[in-house]
Amino acid sequence: MELFLDTAEVDEVREIASWGILDGVTTNPSLIKKSGRDFKTVVEEIANLCGGPISAEVTALDAEGMVKEGLDLKASLPENVIIKVPCTPEGLKATKELSDKGIGVNVTLIFTASQALMSAKAGAMYVSPFIGRIDDTGHNGMDLISDILQTWHNYPEIKTKVLAASIRHPTHVLECMRLGAHTVTMPTKIFRQLMKHPLTESGIERFLLDWAEVENAGNA
Ligand code: G3P
Repeated sequence: MELFLDTAEVDEVREIASWGILDGVTTNPSLIKKSGRDFKTVVEEIANLCGGPISAEVTALDAEGMVKEGLDLKASLPENVIIKVPCTPEGLKATKELSDKGIGVNVTLIFTASQALMSAKAGAMYVSPFIGRIDDTGHNGMDLISDILQTWHNYPEIKTKVLAASIRHPTHVLECMRLGAHTVTMPTKIFRQLMKHPLTESGIERFLLDWAEVENAGNA
């Protein structure tokens, strides 16, 4: 299972990349805005810190504009940058054109299994269903992950990876692990939460206290 960081904060990428388990990074226009920094500079710095796929999102709404932006991003940024496009008919056209050129495409803002299937048919490398935003509407976002994976199971020729996005808490990640989602992208806070357990902390404390007693007794 691939673990991606969902951020445009370079320091966060540096921290999680240093753990040795970071497989990629997803950015979007809202995260870039939050960083307060220049889009391409941020993506370039991130791509130099993490060798996996780094999603950079286009903002054009027409296929021609998306392809133009995608090609420009590919030409000016490191090799591991892939292009994120929205799940619309124009996005499908752009996905087909970019993927036919060998460029990795992440189709984002997916809310139904049919959107995921059509994006896969257009050649997407990743499809990004937004779990948390479905939960926000009073439905169960995990059902969408399950539906998409069931579809993939029915059509084994599909090679597109299911990238669970809009992750809001560690349980979302655990559920994705159980269902077999290929990839999860999550904020830094959730990476930290996934590695934290009070029994790990109290266990370390106990071991250190006992070891101090061993050393004090001169038995070390
Ligand atoms: O990767 C997409 C993600 O950033 C959306 O998350 O929390 O804004 O729904 P959220």
